Amino acid sequence: MSQELITVAYLGATILFILSLGGLSNPETARRGNFYGMLGMTIAVFATLMAPRVTNYLPVVIAVAIGAVIGLIAAKKVKTTQMPELVALMHSLVGLAAVIVGVANYLDNHETVIGTEKFIHEIEIYVGVFIGAVTFSGSLIAFGKLLGKISGKPVLLPARHWLNLIGIIGIVVLGKMFLGTENHADGAVSLYIMMGVAFLLGIHMVMAIGGADMPVVVSMLNSYSGWAASATGFMLNNDLLIVIGALVGSSGAILSYIMCSAMNRHFLSVIAGGFGSDGGKPVASGSSAQPAGEVTPISASETAELLSESKNIIIIPGYGMAVAQAQHTVFEITKLLRERGSNVRFAIHPVAGRMPGHMNVLLAEAKVPYDIVLEMDEINEDFPATDVAIVIGANDIVNPAAQEDPTSPIAGMPVLEVWKAKNSIVMKRSMASGYAGVDNPLFYKENNRMLFGDAKKMLDEVLSGLKAKN
Ligand code: TAP
Repeated sequence: MSQELITVAYLGATILFILSLGGLSNPETARRGNFYGMLGMTIAVFATLMAPRVTNYLPVVIAVAIGAVIGLIAAKKVKTTQMPELVALMHSLVGLAAVIVGVANYLDNHETVIGTEKFIHEIEIYVGVFIGAVTFSGSLIAFGKLLGKISGKPVLLPARHWLNLIGIIGIVVLGKMFLGTENHADGAVSLYIMMGVAFLLGIHMVMAIGGADMPVVVSMLNSYSGWAASATGFMLNNDLLIVIGALVGSSGAILSYIMCSAMNRHFLSVIAGGFGSDGGKPVASGSSAQPAGEVTPISASETAELLSESKNIIIIPGYGMAVAQAQHTVFEITKLLRERGSNVRFAIHPVAGRMPGHMNVLLAEAKVPYDIVLEMDEINEDFPATDVAIVIGANDIVNPAAQEDPTSPIAGMPVLEVWKAKNSIVMKRSMASGYAGVDNPLFYKENNRMLFGDAKKMLDEVLSGLKAKN
């Protein structure tokens, strides 16, 4: 394929990727967005393989086959609740690829480029390897934390900010040595030492971040992986990779900013770490943070009774709905109540579940109409006029401690103000805390009832109760 044709193909792929990002910003167009992305990637891979410098196809075919098998198995096996882990793992691979390409480029190219070109090329390699190494080790730690293999508790070394500063200074000094040397072996030594320091920096940075801030970390690493890909594009002289990397890098940065606003965090304070605590474990009884009081349980049939008498109902789905795969029953209940004249709407918190848009995807899959699915800002003021707010496997996103307790680890995070409804029902299996590991005073409020059990099982019983009332 001629270079002109490859350029045209790259241009087409770039446009498709931009259309893909645009499509993914709305559940109604997300399917189309995904299709554009797949088409763009197919064109990009095909055009790259047709370039004159690709001469040996066998390793490419083997690599594509291995990647395709792993991808297919992952797509079939991984549940939507495990997506953040998968995404973190994929980010680590992008980082590793940038490191490998950088090192290979340095070892390979040293005799062909000279002067300013050599200087620029070495800067590309140094920056690419640095971003790649931080992304690789940081993403692996994020993967371990999301999987629960590494504690969600922030690991705060004494003088951690100083350690980071020393690391950064070390990287600048090594960079000066790397760029200043004419001796290739010395340059390689500086590059390897910097790589080690960058690995440690990535580990240290993510270890210091608490469980509740992990959504921001994942989107931040998403952004890093984009910049790592962009750096790889510079090293390989591939314009498409530069552009795509920049698209991923900047959209990841925008997503991190949106997530920070959703959690009322400053980006820099998340990176600096130290927020959040042990994820997902029951709070020990008698701990000072635990609100006093007793909870009032409710049965599934009583819930059905209350729902059938209510005109205004808001459903708040959370991670537990995804675990229980209860979205289809939720839709059945919604349909029934709407047919009987109730106003049923859904309130979606920006960080509900375990990935951006998690709840929207599940509700769309269950065919819940988009016009009754509202974002937090659109619906939060309506709780006082609501008869029943029903919380399905959500916890942190409805925790009033975020507003009422300035000492709470989630203080300041905007939450859905469920407790302002006339009645609220929280559906979960136990008194265990949510992802952020903090207790929830909502459970003890006078107008709140607890419906204990698996969300799917309980909702099936509520649905039977509602049908029986016909
Ligand atoms: P969580 O606060 O994690 O609470 C989910 C609740 O669901 C748990 O308390 C659990 O209680 C319950 N649950 C689990 N399985 C269940 C089942 N089968 N049936 C019924 N209930 C079940 O979830 P949330 O309110 O959606 O908040 C999301 C949290 O995840 C936030 O802290 C957010 O920062 C974090 N996070 C979000 C993201 C993104 S991007 N969305 C990414 C990573 C982390 P029981 O064990 O008692 O049942």
